[in-house]
Amino acid sequence: MAGPKGLIIAIDGVIGAGKSTAAAGVAEALSYRHLDTGSMYRAVALAATRAAIAPTDTEPLRQLLRQLEIEVEPGGRVALGGEDVSSEIRDIETSRVVGSYADVSEVREALVRRQRRLGLEGGVVAEGRDMATVVFPAADLKIRMVANLAQRARRRLEEFLAKGVDITLDQVRRDIRVRDLADEVRDYGGSAAGVVEEVDTSGLSPQQVIDRLVDLARQCGA
Ligand code: DC
Repeated sequence: MAGPKGLIIAIDGVIGAGKSTAAAGVAEALSYRHLDTGSMYRAVALAATRAAIAPTDTEPLRQLLRQLEIEVEPGGRVALGGEDVSSEIRDIETSRVVGSYADVSEVREALVRRQRRLGLEGGVVAEGRDMATVVFPAADLKIRMVANLAQRARRRLEEFLAKGVDITLDQVRRDIRVRDLADEVRDYGGSAAGVVEEVDTSGLSPQQVIDRLVDLARQCGA
């Protein structure tokens, strides 16, 4: 179902497999749009916490979603009603609460609609857990990225240290295990139809991962 602007590439995978770096790199290599859907969930979580709306406050949350102006620019900048919140959506507090907002069906429905609008014409690398199942079930290329626990923990640790977060490798490993278990019981549309290419990124450099994904995209006609 390649659109007028190119393929729809759906990327999902475990925490710490290097999804964001890969999705951004593939989008750049193909001159596609990188649709980082996690940043949209983060923007909702930030707006809601600023307005003191809890994930369980369904009606206020609905109202917020109706009014919310989230802009996700292809270059990765995220704005809320014109205010650049690109770094704030990645702070510790938002990262801690975003999962609870992402579990709310009203939030998912509102964002899925926006994501489809942004990606349906194709020429998009859509990154997020429900891309190949709910948002773009007919994506031209579906990729699931995996990696071994040691490598995932190292990657996450580097990300935290770069942000100045004081955390040990052991804590990161525990956190990944907890989030893996939580992800296992979540069901965002079941399993994807058709072929899902599993790419194991253990031992690969970010560039090697990008090259591998671009190869797959080329084979699909990108
Ligand atoms: O990939 P990330 O860490 O920026 O994602 C932020 C949160 O949003 C995380 O809890 C996973 C969730 N998410 C989701 O439920 N569905 C998506 N399509 C993308 C992210």
